[in-house]
Amino acid sequence: MSTPFKLDLTQRPRRLRRTAGLRALVEETVLLPRHLVAPLFVVEGRGAPDEIKSMPGVFRLSIPDLVKECRTLHQLGIRAVALFPKLDPKHKDDEGTQALNADTLVLRAVRAVKKAVPELTVITDVALDPYTSHGHDGVLNAAREDVENDRTVGLLCQMAVLQARAGVDLVAPSDMMDGRVGAIRKALDAAGFTGTGILAYAAKFNSAYYGPFREAVGSAQAAGTRLLSKATYQMNPANRREAVIEAQLDALEGADILMVKPAGPYLDIIREVRGATRKPIAAYQVSGEYAQIHAAARLGWLDLARCRHESVLAIKRAGADLILTYFAKELAREL
Ligand code: PBG
Repeated sequence: MSTPFKLDLTQRPRRLRRTAGLRALVEETVLLPRHLVAPLFVVEGRGAPDEIKSMPGVFRLSIPDLVKECRTLHQLGIRAVALFPKLDPKHKDDEGTQALNADTLVLRAVRAVKKAVPELTVITDVALDPYTSHGHDGVLNAAREDVENDRTVGLLCQMAVLQARAGVDLVAPSDMMDGRVGAIRKALDAAGFTGTGILAYAAKFNSAYYGPFREAVGSAQAAGTRLLSKATYQMNPANRREAVIEAQLDALEGADILMVKPAGPYLDIIREVRGATRKPIAAYQVSGEYAQIHAAARLGWLDLARCRHESVLAIKRAGADLILTYFAKELAREL
């Protein structure tokens, strides 16, 4: 007979994990529906919701269905949505002309949502990729080999003013051109929209996790060609210090909220930016993060409900105040 093994321990962290009551008392991170922003895709016409293949449960919605969805989300406690238009390819061109049409799809969608659910915060992307035939976030230079920074920023300023006029609460430049936050702030102020905020995609990485989104908005046409690499404007996934530079520049230029994107594979960036600024931080759990959890769940390899909660909780724990996630509706139902 051996004597029972005994440790002479003063510190036993398991004491605080013994019961559900104790665990709840010392829980450090809380996720609530009001921390979540639901990204939604809108299409022309009155067709039935059209599911995005690589994003189970995410649909391209007609404006009437979008309005219905916004009402449902609001009832579930979601207070903000980010709208993304999917244009018919025949309305796209090299210059992204439709982005400056005052009656373009996303602006009609904003007006409809704001009319139906005025308290819902509405966010729209400021970038040309849903509108350009080449899928880039800006217009090309004369040699057609790169996106032209300053000319693009000029167009983004006009886009932001149109979005503000349509009633959005926050414009979200997602293009990663230099100097666009400051220029957009000036343009909004000059047009009288001093109260419209800027949610800047401050540290947006050149990520393969955007794949399903590009299918959703049809901006992937040039995929695989030299042209669609966004590496000359989106950040190198290898860089952390540069993310702090980008965040500080956007803060100085007048961004109200700073966003890191993608989120899950970039938790260190969220943490780093959290330490570098006092501004609110957003994180975007992107399409590929959503798709990979769904794919594994379909194979029976992961528990969908637990992984979606854990993946978003981890983003909050890293330091994000608000999180854009395609899981928003399901999470709101269970939180
Ligand atoms: C466009 C934009 C992208 C996403 C949001 N805005 C794609 C891209 O930069 O190619 C990605 C969102 C997602 O993957 O869920 N500027």
